[in-house]
Amino acid sequence: MYKQDKKYVAMFSLLLLSLTLGMSFAHAHDDDDEGERQQRNERHDQHRHSKAENDRHAVKITNPQLKEECGSCHIVYPPNMLGAESWHEIMAHLNRHFGTDASVDAATQRELSAVLQNGAGNRGDFAKGKPVLRISDTRWFRNEHDEVSDRTWRNPKVKSPSNCGACHTNADQGRFSEHEVRVPR
Ligand code: HEC
Ligand code: HEC
Repeated sequence: MYKQDKKYVAMFSLLLLSLTLGMSFAHAHDDDDEGERQQRNERHDQHRHSKAENDRHAVKITNPQLKEECGSCHIVYPPNMLGAESWHEIMAHLNRHFGTDASVDAATQRELSAVLQNGAGNRGDFAKGKPVLRISDTRWFRNEHDEVSDRTWRNPKVKSPSNCGACHTNADQGRFSEHEVRVPR
């Protein structure tokens, strides 16, 4: 395993652990009055949400294979921007990848699929029960971009919401902070 992958695995295990702890905490108070529990769950959710958002600002992508195989047609999309189920679906159908063929050999497929799923975001996005395949179709993406006008999305300099680098000047380095956004006019 690459060093970076180990880091992903470690981070993921930590995340799972904290989620499990969080859940048993909620269960332990099952006899609480409903309203109170609701409130606490909401707070818990909010906390998780803002943390996930913070983590989206900068993700260092160092896996060389990911750069080589998934960074030739577009930026390497940071693994934490989609849920594990979405990455699984994407990696299972690389031969029919958004109208193009992005297939890799079976060993690379397994390796990259693991890297992406280990680094996946903690909340999957589903539409009609199926994992969404585009970051730009996730709820958090739509929330973050609700102030971007239709005119901007149609601007030929933007072309597609998938073209993160049109506005996020350092997207190719995994940086998406609001301080590094320049929307083309
Ligand atoms: C042969 C070119 C090519 C390669 C190689 C490729 N992709 Fe893509 N990918 C595309 C195209 C084309 C789109 C659609 C872009 C658009 O709609 O503007 C896309 C879109 C995506 C999206 C959705 C972006 C969004 O809108 O949120 C994801 C996620 C993605 N690719 C992941 C990957 C991964 C993971 C790999 C490596 C295993 C990969 N791609 C390799 C061509 C490629
Ligand atoms: C048309 C321009 C445009 C495109 C294309 C675009 N974004 Fe954004 N993005 C923005 C704007 C504007 C904001 C809001 C910045 C702010 O809060 O001031 C934003 C916010 C974000 C944020 C939250 C940043 C923060 O600091 O809170 C993330 C993460 C993000 N975008 C990721 C992406 C990803 C990933 C893609 C490509 C799949 C993408 N964006 C494509 C314009 C764009």
